[in-house]
Amino acid sequence: AKADDLKGRKVLITAGPTYERIDPVRFIGNYSTGKMGYAIAEEAASRGAEVVLVSGPVDLKAKHQSIKIISVESAREMLEACEKDFDSCDIAIMCAAVADYAPVHCAGTKIKREGHEAPVIELKKNPDIAKTLGAKKKAGQILVGFALETDHEETNAHTKLASKNLDMIVLNSLRDKGAGFGTDTNKVTIFTSDGQTMPYDTKSKRDVAADIINAIISL
Ligand code: PMT
Repeated sequence: AKADDLKGRKVLITAGPTYERIDPVRFIGNYSTGKMGYAIAEEAASRGAEVVLVSGPVDLKAKHQSIKIISVESAREMLEACEKDFDSCDIAIMCAAVADYAPVHCAGTKIKREGHEAPVIELKKNPDIAKTLGAKKKAGQILVGFALETDHEETNAHTKLASKNLDMIVLNSLRDKGAGFGTDTNKVTIFTSDGQTMPYDTKSKRDVAADIINAIISL
């Protein structure tokens, strides 16, 4: 890890969950806190990169001066923000836990309990941000995804690596202690599209971020 090895590079990062509105007071979300994505942003910025961090709703703040945060709520907003900065970036790292489904309708007023049957919420598929960017990727751009799995970890990671046209995927499994949502640590295995497999020990998310950046630089 060198101090300035990302100088002159622009890095686009997604972090946190997305919220998909059901009505003015409710949403579909997930347990992502943004810690992993923000750690990658801090690490990239500290190594000289210009960082654009597209962040879902989280309680974190960016510390480094050269991190530009774009706050979004839904998957659709996250996609729109990413599309603005993707063409001009050298590296894109998709760390957000994007909701795969959103309600077809968002009720204009709070859905009431009294005098109503339990509602059935119809869902539609959200856009796949990583896959959309993967389809537009130009020579020289590096696109990195994450895979959060509960089972068949390696197979699923390899499927996502190929289907989203990624150069690298960072697998974390909810079966590993100290890995995944909310923790200050993570345990990852990195797979590259050229067939490398790099397993790592459990370590702080900032140190995981450094491992990911090192792996990208070595590509
Ligand atoms: O935020 P923390 O609390 O620190 O937790 C970190 C984390 C567990 C959220 C993070 O390490 C992580 O694994 N992020 C990816 C979570 C995820 O949604 O994984 P996935 O396997 O469902 O998605 C695969 C890849 O496609 C990911 O790069 C994801 O960002 C991307 N994706 C998924 C769905 C979608 N509609 N659009 C996407 O871009």
